[in-house]
Formats: sequence, structure tokens, C-alpha cells
Amino acid sequence: MQEFQITQPLTNRSPLAEQPGVYSESAEWDGQPVFVKTLAADDPDSQARFQHEGRVAASLHHPLVVSPLAITPTQLIFPFVTGGTLRERLERSPLGEEEATEVASGVLSAVAYLHARGVTHHDLKPENVMLLDGEPRWNNVRLIDFGMSHSQALPLDIHSGTRMGTPHFMAPEQFLGVRGDPRSDLYSVGVLLFDCLAGHPPYEDALGWLAGIRDRRAELPGPEPLHPLMRSALSRDRAQRPLSAAEMQQHLCSARLELGLPPLPVPAAPAALVTAHPVTADLIMEPPA
Ligand SMILES: Nc1ncnc2c1ncn2[C@@H]1O[C@H](COP(=O)(O)OP(=O)(O)O)[C@@H](O)[C@H]1O
Ligand SMILES: [Mg+2]
Repeated sequence: MQEFQITQPLTNRSPLAEQPGVYSESAEWDGQPVFVKTLAADDPDSQARFQHEGRVAASLHHPLVVSPLAITPTQLIFPFVTGGTLRERLERSPLGEEEATEVASGVLSAVAYLHARGVTHHDLKPENVMLLDGEPRWNNVRLIDFGMSHSQALPLDIHSGTRMGTPHFMAPEQFLGVRGDPRSDLYSVGVLLFDCLAGHPPYEDALGWLAGIRDRRAELPGPEPLHPLMRSALSRDRAQRPLSAAEMQQHLCSARLELGLPPLPVPAAPAALVTAHPVTADLIMEPPA
């Protein structure tokens, strides 16, 4: 990752989207296709959020996580991932149990890595999971968008009370303002798996469920061996959820076995829920020197 103080020149620019304060485009930078987010607001809050997103993403090095190639005070330059998001894939049709468990497993590998680094994503949803070449396979998963993330290494939580996640995918405690609990991400992965299998998230009235005034959930989709896992991940009570991404991935493996699906050669996830010290598990790969 390179850090520059001056704005980087881009060629072949093509606009993609404009969110409040941030402009996204595809372009070429340094001879390669890139996805660029440019800060388009000059208030200190937007600047702090933008820098936070860049610093968190730049601190992560994992094959299933998209980290920036370069950052400047107003640009985050990422490698361009071709193939679209999991949301785009789900708009065509829900996934079968084999593909859905592969995608969830890839997401959990990335999430286990984040949690071991003291980072909570806080916005896990199909829009923030890309599928390389559009293939719903565990090793084609590419996790993006650290715009809502919380990092233990960055003491100032610039998101508290400002922006929230997405109601359908947000854990109830996150809705109430709790930040930085890895189990909130496990809830979101539960919703993501549900959405992959059903083609829609579990609650029609997500806000009613989050506020505790509705409890009716759509029937769990997919085959029965996946239900205990989804039921526990989707618990309102955090203590009822899997203890860690590694444990959730273990449950997923057992369910695949029960369903007669081949085991996935997913690297073993770090066992710790959160560790304050450097983690040396196999999963964690530093970028080549
Ligand atoms: N590295 C990338 N390569 C290609 N497309 C990307 C990349 N990163 C993001 N996108 C696309 O841009 C969209 C918005 O990017 P994201 O980082 O999620 O920002 P936002 O904060 O606006 O949600 C994504 O949902 C995806 O469609
Ligand atoms: Mg996003």
C-alpha cells in the first residue's frame, strides 16, 4: 500500500455512484484497473470518516479482503474487482445450499481475520461482498467497504451516533448504539446466509424487529441442517449466538458434512474471539514484500 500526499492522476475514468460526500468511479491508475472513492465534502466529520475507512482498510491484508493499493487525503484507490456484488448475483436468483454455504464460509474467513485484528465490520450485507468473476465460491469472496467499521486500534469512534448500518442486516444491539462487538457481525452473517438461501432477509419489518416490537420472522430457508446455525446467529440475545466467526464456520462445516457436501479447503480461522496481540494463525497473510 502506498500513501501519497498529492491527488493521484487517474485515466479512463467512468463514474459509478455518488453517496453523500463520497464519489465512486472506475478508472486506471498506475497501469491497472482500479475502483476509486473520492472525498467530495470538506466538513471535518466527513473527512474523519473517510480517513477512518482508509486507515482501517489499509491495515488489513487478507486474500478475501479488498485493501487499498494507495490512499491520499481525498482518494482511496482499490484494485478493481470484476464480477459484481453478491447482491447483484442474488437479484438473479437465490443460491442453493452448496453455493450459499461456500459464500458464507468465505465471508466468515474474512470476518475471523478482521476480528482477530480487533476490527468489527458493522455493515456486512450482500452489497458489501463482491464475487470475483461472479462465482459464488468461498475463495471468490471479496469483502469490501470499511465505511462503518470499528477498530480497537483507533480509539476515536467517529461513527457512534452518526451513521448506522442497514436495518435488515443490523444486529439489534447495534441499532441500540453498541459498537465494536464481533457478535454483531455474526448476526449479520446469519442474515446474509438467510438472504442467500431465501432471496430476501428474515424480517419484512426490520425496524419493528430491531425496536423489539415485532418478533415474527419468515420461516428459515434451506435444508434443516442449516437451521440451528441460522437460528443461533439471528438471536436477539448476543449470548445465544456463536462465540466467534471460527465457531460459526465450524457449524457450517458440520452442516455441509451432514448434507453430503464436500469439505471446503478454507484455511483454519483464528480461534480467539478478539486478540489484542499479533495473531499468527495460518489464515493471516501479510502482503508480499
Ligand atoms: N474494489 C471494487 N471493485 C469493483 N467494484 C467495487 C469495488 N468496491 C466497491 N465496488 C462497488 O461499489 C459499490 C459501493 O462501494 P462501497 O465500498 O460499498 O461504498 P459505499 O460506502 O458507497 O457502500 C459496491 O457495492 C460495489 O458495487
Ligand atoms: Mg457499501
